[in-house]
This record gives sequence, C-alpha cells and structure tokens, in this order.
Amino acid sequence: MSHAHSTPPRPLSSHPVARLNGRLRVPGDKSISHRAMIFGLLSVGQTTVEGLLEGEDVLRTAEACKALGALIERQGEGRWSIQGVGIGGLREPSHVLDFGNAGTGSRLMMGVAGGHPIVSRFDGDASLRKRPMRRILDPLVQMGVEVLEQAEGGRCPITLRGAAVPNPITYTTPVASAQIKSAILLAALNAPGLTTVIENEASRDHTEKMLAYFGAEISVEPEGSHGRKIMLNGQPELRPMPVVVPADPSSAAFPIVAALITPGSDVIVEGVMMNPLRTGLLTTLLEMGADIVELDRRIEGGEDVADLRVRASGLKGVDVSAERAPSMIDEYPVLAVAAAFAEGVTRMNGLQELRVKESDRLAAVAAGLAANGIAFEIEGDDLLVEGGQGEVKGGGMVATHLDHRIAMSFLVLGCAARNAVGVDDETMIATSFPTFKPMMAALGAHFA
Ligand code: S3P
Repeated sequence: MSHAHSTPPRPLSSHPVARLNGRLRVPGDKSISHRAMIFGLLSVGQTTVEGLLEGEDVLRTAEACKALGALIERQGEGRWSIQGVGIGGLREPSHVLDFGNAGTGSRLMMGVAGGHPIVSRFDGDASLRKRPMRRILDPLVQMGVEVLEQAEGGRCPITLRGAAVPNPITYTTPVASAQIKSAILLAALNAPGLTTVIENEASRDHTEKMLAYFGAEISVEPEGSHGRKIMLNGQPELRPMPVVVPADPSSAAFPIVAALITPGSDVIVEGVMMNPLRTGLLTTLLEMGADIVELDRRIEGGEDVADLRVRASGLKGVDVSAERAPSMIDEYPVLAVAAAFAEGVTRMNGLQELRVKESDRLAAVAAGLAANGIAFEIEGDDLLVEGGQGEVKGGGMVATHLDHRIAMSFLVLGCAARNAVGVDDETMIATSFPTFKPMMAALGAHFA
C-alpha cells in the first residue's frame, strides 16, 4: 500500500556522554532542495544542483517531478541534474504522486500541478494523511483548480484537476506559511497577469528568491510591521540555473543544542544558512546566554552562510515572542530540550502551527518532556518549560509519531540527561537528516 510507512519502527536510545567535540557540515537545506527540483522541472533545459539534501522527502519530490515529465539524474553525492519541461509543459502523471512524510513536497507540488491542465493524485504516509490541506486547496480553487477527491477535512488522498489557465488572484494567507505562499506562487507561474500574496508575518522566502534567480518577474514589499506583499507576473520563461544548497539550519539545530547542553563540548557546524527568516533559534539561544560564535560569514548559493562555533553553556530561561515563530517554526522541539537544561522558565508563545506539523508537535514535545522528568505547562498555545539548571533526569521512552524532529530532539536530550533517552522509532530521521546518527556519533554521541 502506497500510504503505509514502509519500514518497521526501529527504536533507538541516546546515552549520556562526557562531551561532544569536532566539526561537521549538516546536509543541504530541505526547503531549498525541494524547490531546486521544482524549479528544475519548470525551466526549459538543464538545471544543476550541488549539495542537494538526499533525504526521503526530497527524493519523493524528485520522483513527482519525474512523473510530471522531468529527466532527473544523480551525478555524484549531492550533485543532481534536472532536465525540465518548462511552465505549461507538464505531462499528466500516470500514477499516484506519493510524497511519503513530506508536507512541503506535497503542498508545493499541488501548486505546480494545479497550474496545469492535468489530473494528479496526491498521497503519503499516515502522518501526511493527517495534515490539513484545505489551506492549500482554498486558494487553488480560487485560481480555478477542481478538487475531484479529498479525504475528510481536506486531507490526502487528494485528486486535483489543474486549471488550463489559472486565474491570477490576490490572497492573504490565513497563517504565516511558506508552503501556502509557495503553492500559490507556483500555480501563478502559469497564470496570465499579476498574482499577489500577502502575509502578515513574513515566512521563509526561498521560493521568492529562487523565482527571481530563475528569471521570473517578482517584487516584494513590506506589509504592516512584520509582513510582506509578494507580486508575481505570470507566464515567464524560467531559465535553468545552477543551484548551490547551503547547510540546513533546521538540521544544524540538533548538534548546536547538543553541544550547548553537554558540558565540556566544543563543536563547529560549517556553512549554516543564515537567512534571517530561518535564524530564530540562534537569536533565541543567544538571548539564553549560549556561547555561539560566527566564524566566517560569506555568501554561498545566494544565501548568507557562516561556520558556527558552539561551546557548552549555562543557559537562562527566556520569553520567546509569537512573532518569532515563523523564523524558527521547526526548531521548537529542540528549543524545548535546550530550555530543559536552562535556569528558570522558558516561555514559547503562539505555537498553534506546531499542532499541524509531521505530528502534533506540541503534544509530542509535552509527552517527551513528561517522560523524562521535565516540568512544563501548556497554556493555550504557549509552552512553558521549567529548566533544571543543567540537571535533567531522562530515562524516558518517547513516542515519535512519524516525526523526525521529535526523534532527533529527544536523542539530543539523551546526550546530556542523567539517564539514557529512548525514541520508539528512528527510521523517519532519514526524511530530513539521513546522516544524523553517524554525524552525531563522530562528535561523541552514543546512540545504541
Ligand atoms: C517549509 C515551511 C514550513 C516548515 C517546513 C518547510 C517550506 O511550513 O515547517 O518544514 O519549505 O516552505 P509552513 O510554511 O507550513 O509553516
């Protein structure tokens, strides 16, 4: 069955270690890797990618791009080429597009397929089947997409008949979500005229940056105090471009927090993307008193990157404002782990979007904290974690609910807790960070 989780669950434990030491470069950014495949498909000619994240999520997007007509080849580690068909040139897929665990891949590709007169069926694993897709379908329907099939509540499996000529629309996203924004912009590529997306809180801007880089006519203006207004002129000819993918800050978060909480640690994480719409965790950790030093800020693949030297630090609890959420949306589980070692309470405000990630992350984090003797409270959509001043009991077994970031966060906790921390399944870590285990082991982590 295509939607079943194909591998049986594999539990893993993280045992306390004396310190973490060394250098590493985490794999390429997941958001940019998905988009590299998609922009390759939508350009006429050959796009080359360096540093692609070869995680399951991105490979699913690559498979979907192939089903829509792209010729995709792996030329070496992280080196891929995509022979695209161009906007308007997509072929109707002959089989279900199975996105596995990938919310980003499925949602962005709904936009791509929705902007073409083809019928396509979207599906995924048990986690993806629980995720709300109405937020994507609503604007796409306004653009002329027909939803031929959907499961209860606007969920996968979903079958779409794309619009022959999508309507250019003006749309204000109901939540700060780069996935909603991107689905609209990707469908709008085949629309005649100007499509406008307004977001009241700026979300990651990789789609906009790559649209401009591949030759689309796009402009971005500030909107209100934290928002943006994005205007895209449809039907450009995208030209294939070389893409260099910087290291994923959302993956770097795990060794960074592991080094901060494990006494005596000193770790350098290389080439981390420093796009300000992705660095909310770093800002927060610095406010908590983390010893993180930027070593060599430079530009790689059109993004600021830096090497980060991270040393074990005594952290203090802080209040994290809701406005910061979009810039660290995937990092709250590992921030909760850092907060567990701090002095005092860390309050994370406005976490409602965490409930609709690969799992209900608010519930999954809460259960993981409880299992490991960490005091916390949930007040509405806010999470309060009471720090143990470097002392955390651990010893728990954490339910991961097919969520890679829950698994990695609690394995990080195990590096520094008094007792080993177990997760009930490690297999889905391969969706975003397939080399997590060996890279953490090379720093001195003890997973068994
Ligand atoms: C992503 C956007 C975020 C994030 C996800 C990747 C993207 O989701 O959680 O991991 O690449 O656009 P939302 O846009 O739904 O917040």
